[in-house]
Amino acid sequence: MCGIMGYVGKNDCVGFLINGLKRLEYRGYDSSGVAAGNSSFTIVKSEGKIENIERILETKPLKGTIGIGHTRWATHGKPNSVNAHPHRTGSTVLVHNGIIENYEPLRAELIEKGYQPVSETDSELFGHLVEERLKQGHAFEEAVRTAFLRLEGSCSIVVVNDKFPDRIVAVKNGTPMVVAHSASSGGSFVASDAQAIIEHTRDVTFLENEDFVVCTKEGFSVHSLKKPLGPGSVIKRDSTVLDWELTSLDKAGYPHYMLKEIHEQPRAILDTLDNLVERETAIPRMEGLRAILQNVRKVQVVACGTAWHAGLVGKYILEQIARLPVEVDLASEYRYREPIVGPDTLFLAITQSGETADTLAALREAKRQGAMTAAICNVRGSSIAREAGFTMFTAAGPEIGVASTKAFTTQILVLMMLGQYAAHSKHIEERGSIDHPKLDLHFFLKLPHLIQGALDTEKKIAAIAKRCIDSPRGFFFLGRGRLYPIALEGALKMKEISYIHAEGYPAGEMKHGPIAMVDAGMTIVVLAPRDGLFDKTISNLQEVKARGGRIVAVGSRGDDQLFKLADEFLEYDFADDFSDVLVATIPLQLLAYHTAVLRGTDVDKPRNLAKSVTVE
Ligand code: M6R
Repeated sequence: MCGIMGYVGKNDCVGFLINGLKRLEYRGYDSSGVAAGNSSFTIVKSEGKIENIERILETKPLKGTIGIGHTRWATHGKPNSVNAHPHRTGSTVLVHNGIIENYEPLRAELIEKGYQPVSETDSELFGHLVEERLKQGHAFEEAVRTAFLRLEGSCSIVVVNDKFPDRIVAVKNGTPMVVAHSASSGGSFVASDAQAIIEHTRDVTFLENEDFVVCTKEGFSVHSLKKPLGPGSVIKRDSTVLDWELTSLDKAGYPHYMLKEIHEQPRAILDTLDNLVERETAIPRMEGLRAILQNVRKVQVVACGTAWHAGLVGKYILEQIARLPVEVDLASEYRYREPIVGPDTLFLAITQSGETADTLAALREAKRQGAMTAAICNVRGSSIAREAGFTMFTAAGPEIGVASTKAFTTQILVLMMLGQYAAHSKHIEERGSIDHPKLDLHFFLKLPHLIQGALDTEKKIAAIAKRCIDSPRGFFFLGRGRLYPIALEGALKMKEISYIHAEGYPAGEMKHGPIAMVDAGMTIVVLAPRDGLFDKTISNLQEVKARGGRIVAVGSRGDDQLFKLADEFLEYDFADDFSDVLVATIPLQLLAYHTAVLRGTDVDKPRNLAKSVTVE
């Protein structure tokens, strides 16, 4: 989704803006722009990548100690340079992230009043609303504040004005925004994500909804959007010191962030363990959940995309280990199915970014209905981390590739710890139903090694990708039991970065329809370790084989039967415990990655996708 970056201070802002926008590229965008000046603002914007802006700046240099920048992911209007941000209306220049839902009536109203929007965007309308108020004699801040109150929907807006070149005014309502002051960089920053400003300071303030901010070179003040600016409107917001390393924002020699992030998984698993497990006692640090777990009768897991797949794995974990009934919903569906929520329901949001609009809306709905709430999240200070009753943080570090990888495996790890913790909670002990596989410290500590073992097969996977690239009818990914969600995740990875049609199915479901698709033009990737479901999976595979499909099997080391049946065989040290879901994930991530590279797609920023989906 759109990215915003602003700076006001002693130094030239253009380099800061461009670097910040590049840090936000992962969010997905189709046009970009900057505005900078010392007294009046000059705008440079273009369709396409930030490099286009840099090329323009080489011939027409832009300078200024105050400026704002934007990467746009088109919602209203095509991705072209007119619709790109910043937008100018009179003396007002603005960038916007989110959707103005009352766009149609506002546009009609403004046109009726004689304003003439030049772009097709909803964003530009806000500028006209500000101008209208400035003409009526409002102070700049008050014009922005009262104009914002006319908007419906969730969005954040950052505004500058030719007549007030010493300040940036911003409003956060829905989509994320951070502010910070950096003594070393001589000014204040505002951005959609802390990644954009981390090289200037690690001390950032995450804004909350209805926060109204005024930034100057000396610092920033946060106010309530609901009150006219003055001493009574000031809000105190605590800052957060981020422990991110700058190197975690670079590719560290890898050709793509996605590949780097795939290889970071053993480390991410260890860091998440360190974050959440008491090494001495091996007890997960989930004290905040104790009271919840004593009262819970049902868990509702809600998430989107890859995080939803982690949630599906979580159902197997929580039901088998903790004997807790679990429902798993896509966040975009949850609110509309009239879920049955009671005071003994634990609503568990899973989200890498903590900003996914559908997941956030579902969390709010569950709270409204009286559920206890918790979240598994990778970003401290994010909206969902702040609004959930209790948050368990994955320590995956910044995930920049749009395709989620290390967030997924660390989410599953946290679900395992949660299962373990819940199984040992008093409530479950009283029920006398503990009869679960032991997820002890020994189990957790072997996970990074198992994942590393799977990563070490990358060359073999790259070779298989080469042989399977010609798969005109696409891919099926098959698994059974807890490996079924892993098959779904394998298919999602393949389609989102390689643009090849891929579907995930429980292996036993093939004969109920999908097998009609199978012929020699179809590749079937099957997850078939030697577990209790192995024989059944083999029977399903025989059916596929009989129809001529090309089989890529992921199985247990030395499995001769699978080796003979499959066209390609990837063997791993599978144990018949929950570690299998993590091991099986790795070859599927790498297969999608190498297929995408061979097809020459933009692996880290696949077309039409955004990293953080902050609109519904
Ligand atoms: O930040 P979140 O985990 O809430 O994001 C959820 C999905 O948008 C995300 O997992 C998406 O499906 C990824 N592109 C998958 O790789």
